[in-house]
Amino acid sequence: MIKLAPSILSADFSILKEELEIIEKAGAQYVHIDVMDGHFVPNITLGPPVIKSLRKTSNLIFDVHLMIENPEQYIAPFAEAGADIINVHVEACRDLPSVIDKIIAFGKIPAVTIKPETDVDVLAGVLDKVKMVLIMSVNPGFGGQPLMKECLLKVERLSHIIKERNLDVEIEIDGGVNLENLEIVLKSGATVIVAGSAIFDSENTYENAKQFVDYCKGFEMR
Ligand code: DX5
Ligand code: ZN
Repeated sequence: MIKLAPSILSADFSILKEELEIIEKAGAQYVHIDVMDGHFVPNITLGPPVIKSLRKTSNLIFDVHLMIENPEQYIAPFAEAGADIINVHVEACRDLPSVIDKIIAFGKIPAVTIKPETDVDVLAGVLDKVKMVLIMSVNPGFGGQPLMKECLLKVERLSHIIKERNLDVEIEIDGGVNLENLEIVLKSGATVIVAGSAIFDSENTYENAKQFVDYCKGFEMR
C-alpha cells in the first residue's frame, strides 16, 4: 500500500498537535519528522522533547528522519521519545549494520537514507536488515526545494533490486514532491511519499493531504 508521510518541517510549529490531527483525518499514515543538527546539514530543527510531547497527542506512525552526525549516539533518546521508524543516513554512520541492530534492539523499525549523490549500491549489504530505504530527492536541510528528477532513477533501480531479491522493503522518497510530479514519482516505484511544502505551505492542509491520499489510491487501483 502506498503511504503518505507529510513532513512537519513546513507545518506551523505553534499548532503541531492540530496539524497532525488534520493530516491524520485526511488519511496520512505516517508523519515525517525531520531532525537536523546544524552539522550534518546546515539547519537546526527539533529533538526528542518535541517528539515526546507530540507522541502524547497522536497515533500516527512517527517516521523520524535523522539528519545528524553520530546517529548511533542518539538512537536511545529518539526511541524513548516515541519514534516508530528511525531513519539514519548511511553517510553519517561509521558502522551502519550496528546502528541498524541498535534500532531493532529498541523495538523500532529500521530505515536507511541516502543523499542525492550517494549510490544505491552502498545499501546492498543492509537491504535484508531494514524495512525502508529513503531516497533523498533534494539535498537534505531545507524544505521547498525542487525535486531532482535524476534521483528517480535510483528509486527505479532500488525497486528492481528489492523485487529481484524478493525483499519486503518500502521505498520512501523525500524532497520536492508535489501533485504535479507525483505521477512520475509513483511510477518510479516509491511506496512512501514525503511531502512538506506541498501539504503545509498554505491554508489548505486538509485538502492538500487528501488530494495526495486520493491520487495514491487511484494510482494503486490502475
Ligand atoms: C529536507 C527534509 C524533507 C523536507 C521536504 O531535508 O528531509 O523532509 O521537509 O520538504 P519538501 O516536500 O518541501 O521538499
Ligand atoms: Zn526528511
